[in-house]
Amino acid sequence: MEPNAAFDEYERSAVAAISAAATAEQLEAARVEFLGKKQGRLKDLQKLLGQVAAEERRVIGQRFNEVKTKVESLLSSRQKELDRPKRVIAGIDITLPGRTPKIGVLHPITQTIEEFKDIMGRFGFTAVEGPEIEDEQHNFTALNIPAEHPARDPLDNFYIAAAGVSSGGPVLLRSQTSTVQIRTMERTPPPIRIVSLGRVYRPDTQDDTHSCMFHQMEGLMVDRDVTMAQLKTVLALFAKAYLGEDVKVRFRPSFFPFTEPSVEVDMLWGETWIEVGGAGMVDPNVLRAVGYDPEAVTGFAFGLGVERFCMRRHEVRNIRLFYENDARFLRQF
Ligand code: DAH
Repeated sequence: MEPNAAFDEYERSAVAAISAAATAEQLEAARVEFLGKKQGRLKDLQKLLGQVAAEERRVIGQRFNEVKTKVESLLSSRQKELDRPKRVIAGIDITLPGRTPKIGVLHPITQTIEEFKDIMGRFGFTAVEGPEIEDEQHNFTALNIPAEHPARDPLDNFYIAAAGVSSGGPVLLRSQTSTVQIRTMERTPPPIRIVSLGRVYRPDTQDDTHSCMFHQMEGLMVDRDVTMAQLKTVLALFAKAYLGEDVKVRFRPSFFPFTEPSVEVDMLWGETWIEVGGAGMVDPNVLRAVGYDPEAVTGFAFGLGVERFCMRRHEVRNIRLFYENDARFLRQF
């Protein structure tokens, strides 16, 4: 056979045999056949090489080496492939690239809560928690909301039982996180500096800014000589820390049974002032209800809507988006 044709033929059949080898034994047989030192087909090619004219030998010799190297490297890479752990385990090809699992993100409100805790932590406020199912003592009475007060109206609250196990009285989903002020002061002597973030429930008509479940951040600081000026400073610093230096916050005189004086807190969003919460100096009656001496200590308290801040930061105009659980919306945060 003409040498070039013989090389081509050798290459083609070597490639076929090596690729087809499915076991180490088959691969070894192919090695012996095509690369064997003693009588393999490479020997025959070598003999052919000896017969070509001297002037052609250089070119043909090169081709010989080329083919030999190629077959050798193919053999060793096939060797490696066969050495790899079995590809198929229980019907699963473990060498296939896996399907990338979708990594979730924290819910935007959870992220906001974490950031609020972080900011308030830097101001020295410790985060504490309280129950979402409350009795009237903590949701109303200790907060200086008398028995006949409209805030207790069943139409404005989610009462869930007429008689609770521990309180004996009516039980409701808390309508405000101010409950945690009471629970904290009941078990801790002053000074106090806490925030509490969590869900509150109100049977409000749902619209773009109202949801029957939302989140509040309650804050409470009680010590000797705590002042309204400190309250304003803390709230302004907080708003700036979360929304940026240029945020405008204002305080409007208002009324809450548990503070005196009381203010409502607004922030500017575009051209519009929107209400973000209430605040004030803790009413002496509240201090007395938990056994504090209003002559010895004073305090400020505030309750802010978590969603409102988050909405302004991210320009979300509809609170319902947070609770529809549409992953396309939630994944953006
Ligand atoms: N609890 C009030 C509300 O839900 C907000 C509030 C007002 C909280 C004044 C306070 C406060 O701690 O001092 O609207």
